[in-house]
Amino acid sequence: MAQTASARRTSLHGHWSSRLAFILAVSGSAVGLGNIWRFPYVAGTNGGGAFVLVYLLCVAIVGLPLMMSEILMGRRGRRNPVATMQLLGEEEGSTPNWKLVGAGGVVAAFLILSFYSVIAGWAVAYIWAGASGVFTGADAQRVGDIFADLTGSWSRTALWHTAFMAGTIIVVARGVERGLEQAVRVLMPALLGLLIMLLGYSMVAGDFARGLAFMFEPKLADLSSDGVLAALGQAFFSLSVGMGAVMAYGAYLPEEASITRTSVAVVLADTSIALLSGLVIFPIVFANGLDPAAGPGLVFQSLPLAFGQMPGGSVVATIFFLLLTFAAWTSGISLLEPPVAYFMESRGLTRTAAASLVGGIIWVLGFLSVFSFNILSNVIFLKGTFFDNLDFLTSSILLPLGGFAIVVFAGWVMCENSTSDELDPEAGQAYRMWRFSARYIAPIAVILIFLNAIGVLSPVLQALGLTD
Ligand code: TRP
Repeated sequence: MAQTASARRTSLHGHWSSRLAFILAVSGSAVGLGNIWRFPYVAGTNGGGAFVLVYLLCVAIVGLPLMMSEILMGRRGRRNPVATMQLLGEEEGSTPNWKLVGAGGVVAAFLILSFYSVIAGWAVAYIWAGASGVFTGADAQRVGDIFADLTGSWSRTALWHTAFMAGTIIVVARGVERGLEQAVRVLMPALLGLLIMLLGYSMVAGDFARGLAFMFEPKLADLSSDGVLAALGQAFFSLSVGMGAVMAYGAYLPEEASITRTSVAVVLADTSIALLSGLVIFPIVFANGLDPAAGPGLVFQSLPLAFGQMPGGSVVATIFFLLLTFAAWTSGISLLEPPVAYFMESRGLTRTAAASLVGGIIWVLGFLSVFSFNILSNVIFLKGTFFDNLDFLTSSILLPLGGFAIVVFAGWVMCENSTSDELDPEAGQAYRMWRFSARYIAPIAVILIFLNAIGVLSPVLQALGLTD
């Protein structure tokens, strides 16, 4: 039977020093390129308003209960996600095979970090570009050329990808608690402050009305079933849920911390930063005649225009890309930690060995994404380049599948005693809402979105006479 208190189990990797340290670590994981690079680009390619609406719904009804589930499972199991799922599966009288969900998450972490590091490398490159003053007075054409020069050169992209991976490996090798806390505490507010300042610029110099309308006037006809799936995927990607990253961090969470309040705080912070970033970027896009559907380069082709026009723009650009790099770094660390914890616990490797091994494999995999923008840019299959396919496979397939399994596990496999024990401090209303979401709302939403994406839903609705 399930044990009644998990207090006896302790993590093998130490614990966060406080609830605040944990909030900072999870926010550091959540806030990253997903908010500033991916959200605007995916919202832009999917038509704007309707996508944003579905994204917000997915965050609230699937993302939040899933984040709570990951944290409570992580804290209860106190192991890497694979071992935690196996342990809890047995303990709850189900099967140890739930470890396969954890294993899927480890695979997803390899794939996501492999391209994440390449995009983070672009941000690193833009620190120097900003400082060198190349953006000063540049028009859209010139800014586009600067971006194309960077991504077109596999050696330059590979260099910055290598630097980013090295930095990520070093932090994980030293143990994630050390250093992360201070960094997030200072840098995240700084990033927020800078975004608010840029919002001021966009309001004055951008086409703010059009940007606002693009983001918040839902034109449902513009949204394809793929777009709905992409919104779900973006919600998961941005919140870092669906593969066990938050579960791995939850394993180091002190017993007394409130999981509900922590999750709400992280979800609000992450979503605000994504929306803010869209509100900065789209007005600049429209004021300069750029295409909101330009794709993965959108942020790198729009923000530099603003930096080039504002007084002191080189300094602002440098600081902005520096902060973006840090935000990406704290996210990259959270992607590397679960596989590293897994290899340490299951293979008996030291932290340094595991971080180097896993990081090294991811670094090599990253070359597929590096080449996607230059020598292999003509290799197009399924969803596009290697990068496009990796991005789609992970965000739109692996994370939703993993998230579905996790939320079903927490809602249906874990008995009420176990989950209410973990969510104890906020038992009552909040607990019942979480459990209802985890059992019904979140799983059903994911199933419907998948059925919709494979084209099964609309014929059914038509047959039932619900749509025409
Ligand atoms: N959420 C991060 C971002 O928005 C990326 C990230 C970190 C992530 N850890 C993750 C995405 C785990 C999915 C799963 O940039």
